[in-house]
Amino acid sequence: MGRPFRIAHRKNEQPSAAQEESMADTLKEPDSTGFFGAYGGQHVPQEVKKRLDEVAEAFARVRDDPEFTKELDALESHFSCRPTPIFHCKNLSRAIGGGQIWLKREDLNHLGAHKINNTLGQCLLARRMGKKRVIAETGAGQHGVATAATAALMGLDCTICMGALDVERQHLNVTRMEMLGAEIAVAQNGQKTLKEAVDMALSRWIHDDGMFYVLGSAVGPHPYPLMVRVFQSVVGREARAQTLNETGKLPDACFACVGGGSNAIGLFSAFLDTDVQLFGVEPGGRGDGYGDHAASLSLGEPGILHGFNSYMIKDPATGEAGLVYSISAGLDYPSVGPEHALLKDQGRAHYVRVTDEEALEAFSALSRTEGIIPALESSHALAYAMKVAPTYPKDAVLLVNLSGRGDKDVAQVEALIQKGAFKPKAL
Ligand SMILES: Cc1ncc(COP(=O)(O)O)c(C=O)c1O
Repeated sequence: MGRPFRIAHRKNEQPSAAQEESMADTLKEPDSTGFFGAYGGQHVPQEVKKRLDEVAEAFARVRDDPEFTKELDALESHFSCRPTPIFHCKNLSRAIGGGQIWLKREDLNHLGAHKINNTLGQCLLARRMGKKRVIAETGAGQHGVATAATAALMGLDCTICMGALDVERQHLNVTRMEMLGAEIAVAQNGQKTLKEAVDMALSRWIHDDGMFYVLGSAVGPHPYPLMVRVFQSVVGREARAQTLNETGKLPDACFACVGGGSNAIGLFSAFLDTDVQLFGVEPGGRGDGYGDHAASLSLGEPGILHGFNSYMIKDPATGEAGLVYSISAGLDYPSVGPEHALLKDQGRAHYVRVTDEEALEAFSALSRTEGIIPALESSHALAYAMKVAPTYPKDAVLLVNLSGRGDKDVAQVEALIQKGAFKPKAL
């Protein structure tokens, strides 16, 4: 499947009707300073802005470079096994009733998650810029593993910053990153999760000119939200064409979990010009009280964190980034990609939340009915689709982005079952 980054900007090219269907060019560009409406931007000191502008200029050059596109296409197909298929969950849909649940199988990417779509693009860019070292933050470890593997492939030195709590929760991925040759830098401050990992990666990157920051979600100052959206948009382009091909129509609704928002924006970007319903599913954790969730869009308010303006969870006492919690190490970030903030305000996408318990039920249901163990992150998207499926007609297509596989979460879920904290219900 072709993968032009900027379909609208390609001249002298007449796409076929099928290509037009498969490559919805509805992607809104942020303005030149990186604003999606009031959100995004570069709220950073001048010396950081200089580094970001260098990345933005290099990215603008590669977007129009057919050689870069060709190299990325080849890596996606031969290294990461794209295109990933869509899959009809017939057993699960029958058990729940209502609309038909389909999965976009991003879990089948090399290394088990959508994160590699972005690391291939950013590491290629780093190499084009002559950088010898990359640094990345990680929560669940999936972005860390994808960065470590891509860096190994491209001969780049690699450091992965990770909060101490996530090192504990995601031991398997820590070992994988080490085996792939990455150095792990552990953040011991604050809540010891994703925010602290981002703090650490940003501060190391700023002080090292030879380093490229491979940011793992559609967050951060410009150009990162745009760049990550562009590299993840392959998910939506493929899903749109595949759904049309296999069901004869577009999906009725799309569902994606939202941590920083990269798998969600990758999927949504291909459907913004349609009336397909879009649901971003946030981590509702233990409930709606402060410190019990990480639902930045549905329970937060506008504010600036890590150099960009978006919705965020604030500490009620100080107004700074507040406490967050989720069972999923990949979802507990106190802010969210600025494009999602705009889509929320416009009402084009709906941001909802499911609890840890509901995500665990979905994890177990998919494993038992379809033989697919989903990541706990992706289980949030599935849980919401399962909740609303009975309200849709039988021929409705509900497309869930299965952003990752759940091997990394198996030990954590097993421990909860053994403690009696989770007992899967029969469907
Ligand atoms: C499998 C998986 N899905 C989703 C996410 C959330 O990230 P994002 O919202 O950027 O897609 C993560 C983050 O680590 C992840 O590992």
